[in-house]
Amino acid sequence: MFTLEGKTALVTGSGRGIGRAIAKQLASAGASVMLNDIDADVLKEAAGEVGPRSKSLAGDMTAPDFPQKLVEATIANFSSIDIIVNNAGYTWDNVIQKMTDEQFQAMLDIHVVAPFRILRAASGWIRDVAKREAAEGKRVMRKVVNITSISGTDGNAGQAGYSSGKAAVIGLTKTMAKEWGRYNVNVNCVGFGLIETRLIQPLSGEGAAIEMKGRHIPVGVQSRLLQTARAANPLGRLGTPEEAAGAVVFFCSPLSDYVSGEVMICSGGSHF
Ligand SMILES: NC(=O)c1ccc[n+]([C@@H]2O[C@H](COP(=O)([O-])OP(=O)(O)OC[C@H]3O[C@@H](n4cnc5c(N)ncnc54)[C@H](O)[C@@H]3O)[C@@H](O)[C@H]2O)c1
Repeated sequence: MFTLEGKTALVTGSGRGIGRAIAKQLASAGASVMLNDIDADVLKEAAGEVGPRSKSLAGDMTAPDFPQKLVEATIANFSSIDIIVNNAGYTWDNVIQKMTDEQFQAMLDIHVVAPFRILRAASGWIRDVAKREAAEGKRVMRKVVNITSISGTDGNAGQAGYSSGKAAVIGLTKTMAKEWGRYNVNVNCVGFGLIETRLIQPLSGEGAAIEMKGRHIPVGVQSRLLQTARAANPLGRLGTPEEAAGAVVFFCSPLSDYVSGEVMICSGGSHF
């Protein structure tokens, strides 16, 4: 139905989980993919799975100079950047009375500041190439997909920082859809419900924590809440990373060429 042959995609946080599934699906549709993750070991494993059409650059998306380096590396390796998926993310939750400034800021840094820096870094190349294509009478559509959450659209107790970052990236999305429409860029958001990755592993489970900048951050959801969420879900289950990736790939494909500035919820019908 479509091919992404000849397209270059950048997917942040693609070492594991939904990002890895997105990278694999984009590559199997024909795209060359630049992978990134803060964890170099899982990134290497992901690159092996995505295959020879991929390159990777490990690094922390919240380091102020890293997004620029990642965009430059993508263009240097593939001579273009046609699809950007701002996917890297994690949770660092607590009720507001226990949430520190560092914790709240960390959630804004990864979920909205990093995507902002990636898009700013890509803006020069995108504008130049779009102007050149327009002068040649060509219309080439490019794609940005930012990842949000039903915590961002609905709010979720215990996630003041995370839901603020995920709501903010919707504002960035809608604004960039307006700024970049003239350059033929579709800018959309996909908001996930509960998708089975390490982010929502049972809290009591082994390794229910992530190491982030020297901090040991517990991640996961109480088993009881997972059971309730499953039971309340219209489809009666949580989503898989592959199903989550499918919604993102729609926005990366020509099927969405006349859709921009939208938020699509991929949650099996659940809302918080
Ligand atoms: N799993 C869910 O239920 C769910 C729900 C709503 C939204 N999301 C969002 O989906 C996206 C993917 O999450 P996931 O569930 O696949 O989680 P995951 O933990 O399986 O994968 C996220 C990846 O991002 C990477 N990452 C985190 N911070 C980074 C940084 N500073 N620099 C570079 N890489 C970094 C992690 O190392 C990890 O490999 C995130 O934005 C998350 O907030 C997930």
